Amino acid sequence: MFDFQYYTPTKVVFGKNTESRVAELIKEFGGTKVLIHYGGGSVVRSGLLQRVTDCLDAAGISFVTLGGAVPNPHLGLVYEGIELCKKEGVDFLLGVGGGSAIDSAKAIGYGVANEGDVWDFYDYKRKATGCLPLGVILTIAATGSEMSDSSVITKEEGLVKRGYSSDYCRPKFAIMNPELTMTLPDYQTACGCTDIMMHTMERYFTNGGNMDITDALAEGLLRTVKDNALILCKDPKNYEARAEVMWAGSLAHNGLTGCGNDGGDWMTHKLEHELGGLYDVAHGAGLAAIWGSWARYVYKDCLPRFKKFAINVMGVEDKGTDEEIALRGIEAMEDFYRSINMPTNLRELGIEATDEDLVLMAKKCAIGVGGEMGSAKVLNEEAMLAIYRASM
Ligand code: NZQ
Ligand code: ZN
Repeated sequence: MFDFQYYTPTKVVFGKNTESRVAELIKEFGGTKVLIHYGGGSVVRSGLLQRVTDCLDAAGISFVTLGGAVPNPHLGLVYEGIELCKKEGVDFLLGVGGGSAIDSAKAIGYGVANEGDVWDFYDYKRKATGCLPLGVILTIAATGSEMSDSSVITKEEGLVKRGYSSDYCRPKFAIMNPELTMTLPDYQTACGCTDIMMHTMERYFTNGGNMDITDALAEGLLRTVKDNALILCKDPKNYEARAEVMWAGSLAHNGLTGCGNDGGDWMTHKLEHELGGLYDVAHGAGLAAIWGSWARYVYKDCLPRFKKFAINVMGVEDKGTDEEIALRGIEAMEDFYRSINMPTNLRELGIEATDEDLVLMAKKCAIGVGGEMGSAKVLNEEAMLAIYRASM
């Protein structure tokens, strides 16, 4: 068991109609001039943005708005947001939407609170010393950005997708109304469930450290999301299932399911970030497409955990050799992906990559992780390429 630090300063306000408390929460955290940042327009179509601006108007809080954060959010809009905040004297950010709008807001927050080019942080050149305070109204259960310390941005030039993590960007509050996720396309709901599970799986498949309470929480979370993802496939308006998945999304990525171990593997995410950067695919679908190939490449080096996962999460019978059980667990996970219409390889994801593309992604991925990375198994560029090739 490793020593650990667990820091989750976000005030969570969860349940029906909780967005009506947005003005009160902004005031509680000292916001007087707000930038409302959102995505491609789902919050306009659903009427949520109007309800939020009405609420701020009624409370006498002044604000400016900036929409347009795309999935795999772009650095260009971040720069625009930073300029707008400086010009308008913004002292509080409100991200309304999914991980993309929230991450873009976090990046704007870094850019306002620090001198110089904000990309430096994502390019690992220097560390931020602060971030503008941020609140969130979540509309898709997926990334956990509403409580996480990370922000993932894509630089258009070179299509470089990178994450930067620090406690400074952890949101002050997160408003989570499961009803707001009911307008999601089924595909995005499934992508979200995949991402949530993967955040815990990344922490679970490790060779460093062990804590039974952490494993029990992780396995319970994974079973809960799996069961409720299947319910949502048939009954997308099921409030209870939406709520289970939404809260799981936050717990999966706020650090809880990694306490006592070495921090996790994270290579499926790193491999996916290259897919997201180059082909602009939905993050969750990219993870599903790569996971099976990653798992088959590494499972022998992390056998006890793959066996435990197979039995305790996927319900595989404890019969046969450890390797057989582990492989049946991987197959069961892929069957689950198929049952929620997620891809299990790059072709199903809609990518016809050339070998040249795969070589380029492996190279960029290796650079992004500083040469090699992983806990279930340490992967270098050659191993990354082998996994990309196996996922075609
Ligand atoms: O842009 P709008 O119009 O809002 O539409 C979005 C977008 O098309 C739509 N959507 C969201 N809520 C909706 C809705 N449509 C209808 N009704 C609603 N209630 O769904 C689409 C996807 O939204 P997006 O914000 O891109 O999804 P997600 O939350 O999955 O975020 C993905 C991004 O977050 C990064 C990913 O790499 C990707 O760039 N990640 C961020 C992390 C973090 N900050 O901790 C960790 C993750 O591992 C991940 O890397
Ligand atoms: Zn993720």
